[in-house]
Order: sequence, then C-alpha cells, then structure tokens
Amino acid sequence: METLFAVIAAYVLGSIPAGLWVGKAFYNTDIRKMGSGNLGATNAFRTLGKKAGAAVTLIDILKGTAAVLLPLVIETDIHPLILGVAAVVGHIFPVFAGFRGGKAVATSGGVLLAYHWPLFVVMVLSFFLVLKLTKIVSLTSISLGFIAMAYTAVYVWLTGDWLLFIVIVILSVFIIYRHRSNIARIRAGTEPKVKWM
Ligand code: G3P
Repeated sequence: METLFAVIAAYVLGSIPAGLWVGKAFYNTDIRKMGSGNLGATNAFRTLGKKAGAAVTLIDILKGTAAVLLPLVIETDIHPLILGVAAVVGHIFPVFAGFRGGKAVATSGGVLLAYHWPLFVVMVLSFFLVLKLTKIVSLTSISLGFIAMAYTAVYVWLTGDWLLFIVIVILSVFIIYRHRSNIARIRAGTEPKVKWM
C-alpha cells in the first residue's frame, strides 16, 4: 500500500506542469499555443523569456529530485529510481494538463541529481558543450540520452548498478520518443537554432 502511495505521489509531483502554470499565472500565456507548443523549459525560455525559462527549468528538475527523495518522508521499500521514473512519466503525461506534457529532459536530470549527482554534472557540462557545437536544443537533449547511456555502461561495469543503467535506457527512450517532431524538423533542416550560444 505504501509503495503504491509513493509511486502515485511521485507521478503527481512529476505532473506539476511548471511551464503551463508559470505562463498562465505570470504572463497570461498558454505556452502550448506558442513556439514548439511543448510544455518544457526550452519552450518557456523561447516564449516567456529568461526568468520564466530559468524558473521552469528549476521546477522541472526539482520534481525529479523530490520524487527520488520521497522515501525520506514516505515509508516505502521501493527503489528511489522507480519513483524517479514515475515522476518523469508524470512530467510527460501530466494529470493536471490533459496528459500532454514535456519531453522528459529536465525532470530526468533531477532524478540524476538526487541519485547520482556526478552524472548530473556530466549532463550539464555536456549540454552546454553540445549546444555550443550544434546550436539546436532538441539535438542536444537527444545527445544527452546517448552520453548518459555510455556513462552508465562504464559505471555498471565498475559498480554493478544495473538498475541505474536500465533506468537511463528507459529515460533515454522516453526522451527520443518525445522528440519525434523535433527529429523530423532536424531532418528537414527547419529546427530552430539558439542565438545565445
Ligand atoms: O527539452 C526539450 C527540448 O529538447 C526541445 O524543446 O520546445 O524545442 O521542442 P522544444
């Protein structure tokens, strides 16, 4: 019973649609109707500006972090990474936003921050490096999935933490699947590039 409660709590945490609520509360704007139409931090930066983008990034990261840390406040035997996956599922299919959410990147990062922070640091550094080279956020996000899989493949060989590797593969599949429209635009050469890198 506690396990089910913890999974639902993690899903509900992940469901908080930061991009939607920040846009509506402070800018009277529904970011689903602007830019890429995505509820994530990138579209918040694009449509609402730097402050809102930073706030949405932070909230989306903290959703994943909080979910992994739930066993500190809820008595449960479930592995924290499973709660992290539940939060990412909530972020992608949010109960508070018609089950149309973001693309899993920031919330997955928050899971790593709580569970294995060195990989979070590698992800942040890789993000800026790949973005500098490609200037395309979506391509950068997809690349992070592959970099994380390579990192955890080595990590599992060193430590035997298979669950982290499996969860990273699952999160990477989520990320790639959610970027289908971006991949089509990248192939067509129409995906927007950032100007600030
Ligand atoms: O994290 C989402 C990002 O990779 C792409 O966002 O709004 O350009 O589809 P967007």
